[in-house]
Amino acid sequence: MASAEPPVVVTCSAPVNIAVIKYWGKRDEELVLPINSSLSVTLHQDQLKTTTTAAISKDFSEDRVWLNGQEQDVRQPRLQACLQEIRRLARKRRSTQDGESLPPSLSYKVHVASENNFPTAAGLASSAAGYACLAYTLARAYGVDGDLSEVARRGSGSACRSLHGGFVEWQMGTRADGKDSVAQPVAPESHWPQLRVLILVVSADRKLMGSTAGMQTSVETSALLKFRAEAVVPTRLREMGRCILERDFQGFAQLTMKDSNQFHATCLDTFPPISYLNDTSRRIIHLVHRFNAHHGQTKVAYTFDAGPNAVIFTLEDTVAEFVAAVRHSFPPEANGDKFLKGLPVAPVSLPDELKTALALEPIPGGVKYIISTQVGPGPQVLDDPKAHLLGPDGLLRSRSAA
Ligand code: DP6
Repeated sequence: MASAEPPVVVTCSAPVNIAVIKYWGKRDEELVLPINSSLSVTLHQDQLKTTTTAAISKDFSEDRVWLNGQEQDVRQPRLQACLQEIRRLARKRRSTQDGESLPPSLSYKVHVASENNFPTAAGLASSAAGYACLAYTLARAYGVDGDLSEVARRGSGSACRSLHGGFVEWQMGTRADGKDSVAQPVAPESHWPQLRVLILVVSADRKLMGSTAGMQTSVETSALLKFRAEAVVPTRLREMGRCILERDFQGFAQLTMKDSNQFHATCLDTFPPISYLNDTSRRIIHLVHRFNAHHGQTKVAYTFDAGPNAVIFTLEDTVAEFVAAVRHSFPPEANGDKFLKGLPVAPVSLPDELKTALALEPIPGGVKYIISTQVGPGPQVLDDPKAHLLGPDGLLRSRSAA
């Protein structure tokens, strides 16, 4: 029989982030502590986000989790680590709180539903947005405040950076218990309004080698990775921080490309080697360098994570011309009008001398589509009850209503 106590239901959304100084490698697998600090840009949730609802009720007999409409195995270690960590923080808080505003009992079970508005596991950091959203939503539901880096990190390292908007550094920390391995804002979302981001979706398929397994092999076998973490990243982080604070696009762009290239070099230095880039990714790299060479300055930068999709940074005044260059190099095969999603970009024709400078044989369909976006805010609580993915019975709403 249902109890008189209504469930606690909370829905939040969280953003994707893209690292410009990459995290690759853990010094502690269990606590998810990295071998180097990293720095990222939070992307706008209007284009890419995860939405998560958590419901806590006396009536639930077990913890349950749905992702994009599919029920998941709740025993997954990372999910368990996040749940345990949030309940530990809630317990700690409870012991210091008066009886008035007590959050739901920790003995009650939780139901969680999560949904992405972009392809999962397409190399678009869906796990980062997903675990940041899980940590943030559970924290609201259990009345936990304070730093949530550890909860998000235990799900996926890069997820702690999605807990803030704008530009974010995940400090590796030095403590063995990881308490100082936290994400901190470097500059807010409003800091660099001219900055634009284009995601060139090359493939929406699942990646062959996940980040966790990939970086583990790299830590075990790549001397280059060790060198990178110890001798390269610390200087780059300082320099990247300066470029962002001074809005120095050329510096930011060059460092972003170099760091992406070094990350992929460490993947090739891993044994057996890992390659996340494909022919189209390499074409995009050439396109960017030729575009910049034609202009005699660095107007566009690329970065690639553990997959073939490119994330491009540029400034407002260059977006239209660069999108035209992508269309020229990768003519859309079908649905030309759906090639560009997200923020509108005015169509422009490419000057003949730029076409000549690009000098690339067009590859029809190489880029499937472009998502045009910008820097965005951190996680948000969605107050409108219509946003809830779970009904009052704690079961999936959209699916059960469909
Ligand atoms: C290449 O955060 O996905 O995107 O901590 O094992 O879940 P786990 O790895 P994950 O790795 C991200 C790697 C990267 C670089 C980055 O985002 O910094």
